[in-house]
Amino acid sequence: MSDKLWAMANLKVNFCGVEFENPTVLASGVLGVTSASLKRVVEMGAGGVTTKSIWMEEHKGHKNPTMFGTEHFFLNAVGLSDAGIEKARGLFAEYGEPAGSGAKNVRPAPVIASIVAGKQSEFADLTEEIVKSRPDILEVNISCPNVEDEFGIPFACDLLLAADVTKVVRRKLDELGSKIPMIVKLSPNVPNIGRIAKACADEGADGFCAINTVGPGMVIDLKTRKPILANRVGGVSGPAIKPIAVKAVNDIHKATGLPIIGTGGVMTGEDAIEMMMAGATLVGMGTMVYYREVGGFGEVVKEMGDWCDANGVEVVGDLIGSIK
Ligand SMILES: Cc1cc2nc3c(=O)[nH]c(=O)nc-3n(C[C@H](O)[C@H](O)[C@H](O)COP(=O)(O)O)c2cc1C
Repeated sequence: MSDKLWAMANLKVNFCGVEFENPTVLASGVLGVTSASLKRVVEMGAGGVTTKSIWMEEHKGHKNPTMFGTEHFFLNAVGLSDAGIEKARGLFAEYGEPAGSGAKNVRPAPVIASIVAGKQSEFADLTEEIVKSRPDILEVNISCPNVEDEFGIPFACDLLLAADVTKVVRRKLDELGSKIPMIVKLSPNVPNIGRIAKACADEGADGFCAINTVGPGMVIDLKTRKPILANRVGGVSGPAIKPIAVKAVNDIHKATGLPIIGTGGVMTGEDAIEMMMAGATLVGMGTMVYYREVGGFGEVVKEMGDWCDANGVEVVGDLIGSIK
């Protein structure tokens, strides 16, 4: 994709010391399974990409149907299916080496490795494995709402557990001497997300991604009177959750002042600008791909540039936390 031919504004942002060409990133779980699909997302204009959440071993997801969408929201119960760390190693090798590494196959944009586990100790083991692939950022997913049958309530819904996982991963990174920034992906399904973020910050989180899906929610087929998803319930994403995400991002921003990937219901450049005003440095998009296809990344970047140009904003980073 050509370099911002359309916008006069500087759209570059620095997130936890990592440079991004623009603030948009692919959210975890959508198109993040192969190196080819990650590269395609970057070609179409994204500033960075996040892998699907990676488990240590292969993890089976839920039965089909796992997804249902309307113009207002999306419901999914994919259930964090993943092929495990061995497969992920191949993905990182193909995607390329970090910028500045001097390698021939440099990655086209930063990659955020999302990891998930059912126990604290597994998070530590997975951290040890994943740093070998040198992701630009480590995202600790403690917030998926539709695997409760397997693992109980998400770590992110309990302040002490959320803080404990953060501590375990921080300790492991320090032990390994790794400088990879570590962010924690939080859940909106809590009374006070700011308090949970603060507890994670106190245990060494460098930043946050918020939010994971809302709910879970349910949709019923009126003919059969059965829930449409085989899992009966699924996490809610897409346009309907944007106000919840914007508020969560602002709460985390106020509570910690740390960098945030604002995610949840962003479909347009103006949505992304709003997320940055709330406190986000980067803006994650997942469900947008189902509405605007992968080309939506470049379109959203263009819309952000147009908005900045029309509103006299020369540096998009100046918008971060500019809410009055
Ligand atoms: C089909 C699907 C799969 C997802 N899988 C993951 C996942 O593996 N790990 C994760 O942290 N979030 C996952 N999510 C949540 C998204 O990353 C994102 O936080 C959420 O959908 C809200 O953003 P959106 O409205 O832009 O989709 C998934 C979302 C969808 C729709």
